[in-house]
Amino acid sequence: MTEITGGPDVVGGDGDLLAVPVLADLTWGPGADVVAEAFGDWIEEYLERKDFSGKVGQVVGFPGGDLPYGEVMLIGLGDEVDLETLRRAAGTLGSKAMPYPKIVTTLHAVEIDGAAEAVVTGFLLGAYRFDSYKSEPKESKNVELVLAGGAEDAGIESAQQLAAAVGLARDLVNEPAISTPPVVLARRAADAMPDSVTVEIIDESDAADRGFGGLLAVNAGADNPARLVILRYEPDSADKSLVFVGKGIVFDSGGLSIKPASFMEEMKTDMAGAAAVFGAMKAIAEKGLDVSIVGITPLTENMTGGSALRPGDVFTAYNGKTVEVLNTDAEGRLILADGLSLAAEMEPDLIVDIATLTGAAKVALGVNIAAVFGNDEDALDSVEAAAKYAGEKVWRMPLESEYRPTLDSPIADIKNIGDRYGGTIYAALFLKEFVGDNAWVHVDIAGPARASKAEHYITKGGTGFGVRTLVALAEQVSSAAVPISRTILA
Ligand code: BES
Ligand code: ZN
Ligand code: ZN
Repeated sequence: MTEITGGPDVVGGDGDLLAVPVLADLTWGPGADVVAEAFGDWIEEYLERKDFSGKVGQVVGFPGGDLPYGEVMLIGLGDEVDLETLRRAAGTLGSKAMPYPKIVTTLHAVEIDGAAEAVVTGFLLGAYRFDSYKSEPKESKNVELVLAGGAEDAGIESAQQLAAAVGLARDLVNEPAISTPPVVLARRAADAMPDSVTVEIIDESDAADRGFGGLLAVNAGADNPARLVILRYEPDSADKSLVFVGKGIVFDSGGLSIKPASFMEEMKTDMAGAAAVFGAMKAIAEKGLDVSIVGITPLTENMTGGSALRPGDVFTAYNGKTVEVLNTDAEGRLILADGLSLAAEMEPDLIVDIATLTGAAKVALGVNIAAVFGNDEDALDSVEAAAKYAGEKVWRMPLESEYRPTLDSPIADIKNIGDRYGGTIYAALFLKEFVGDNAWVHVDIAGPARASKAEHYITKGGTGFGVRTLVALAEQVSSAAVPISRTILA
C-alpha cells in the first residue's frame, strides 16, 4: 500500500523520483522550473534530442544530478489542462511507480479545482495490479507518494476511496469465472461493503418464490445456482433516491445459441455492470453521501446444460410480462428485466442500469465509449455530466419507438431480439418495458468494461468503467455536499 501525504515543496524535499509537469512548448509547470534551473542549458538540448515538448502523454526521465532526487520524470500536460489530463498524467506515473520507494510530485499543484483528488485517483488506478494467480508476483517497491507543497487531506482520502472502489470492480472482473460463481461473487460483494450498507442475498429458492423468472430462465443451463444481491445505503437525512441495476453474468457462453470460441474468450467480463454497482455502492457509502442508493445485481452464468433455456421458450419476468426467448445469447436483458422490475417497484427518483449488453455497442462506438439511452432528458443530462466529470466517455443513442414493434412476439408479450441491425437500440427498447413510469438511464458498457492494453490510468483487463460515473452522479444528487458546478468543471 502506498501512503499518500502532503509534504514540503520541491526545494525542501527529497525522494527516489521527482515527477513534475511540463505544459505545451516547454512551459515549465510547478516544480519543473526548479528542475530546469538545476540542469541549465543541458535540459533543453536533452529534451530536444528526445523530441519532448510537453505534449499530452509525453514522458521523459533522467537521473536527478545534484537534486536530492534519484531520478526526475517530466510529464507533458499539453495546452489545455483539465482534471482528466491530470488523472491520465498521474496514471502514467502510477504505472511506472514500482521501482521507486518514495515518489514526490507537483502534478496536483496545477491550478484547477479538485487537482489533488484527480492526481491521486489517476496515480492509484495506474498503479493497480492483478497478480493473484502469479506464482511469483513482482513486488512494488513504492510505499510513498508525496504531494509537494501539500494538499487537502479530504481530496486525498476521497481519491483513495474512489480508487479502492474501482479496484474492487477491476478485481471482480479480472477473476476467472471458475473462482467467482454467483454464490462467491455475492459473498465478496457483501464482504467489501462498509457497515452502512445492508446486504440481502436472494438464493435460488427465494428467487423462485418471488418470481424472478428472467434470472432463473438464464440460470437453467448452469450447475452453479443464481443469486440476486440487493444492497441498501439509506441515510436518514437523504431526500433523493437512486437505484443502480448491474448485469451480473459471471460467464456468458451464449447458452444454446452458443458463441464462437473467440467471442467467448472475454466473457468472464459479462458481470462488469454488477461489479460497477458494487464498487459505486462501496465508495458512496464510505464517502457518506447524502442520498439513498439501492444496488440490485442479478448474478448467474449463461451455460448450456441439459435443462438450459431453449430458443422458443417463454418465461414470465418479475413484473408479470411474458418473454419469448429466440436467442439465448441475448440473456443480459432477461436478468435485467427482473432487476429493473424490482427497481421500478421501489419508485426511486432515478433508475440507472449498467451492463455489458451488446456487441453492437462496440461496433457503433468503438471500445472506449459507452452507449447511453433513457426516457428522461434531465436524467440523461445528469448521467452525461457525471460521466464527463469522471472522465468516462459516454454517447447518447436514440430510444427509437418506431423500432419497438419489431420486438412484438406472436405468442408472448415481447421477444428478446429485434432486427439484425441496431442491436444496441433493440436491447434498450426491451429494457424500457420493465421500468414503468420511472426516470431511467441505461448504460451499455460492452466496449469500455475491458481494455486490451494498458494506457495512462487504464490497466489491461477489467477497467472498472462506470464506478466513477455512478459515484459522481450520487455526488451530484447528494444535497449540497458537492456543488453541481463541479460536474461541469472538467
Ligand atoms: N455479453 C454479450 C454482449 C457483449 C459482447 C459484451 C461483446 C461484451 C463484448 C451479450 O450477452 C450478447 O451476447 N449479446 C448479443 C445479443 C444478440 C444475440 C441479439 C450480441 O451482442 O451479439
Ligand atoms: Zn450473451
Ligand atoms: Zn452477456
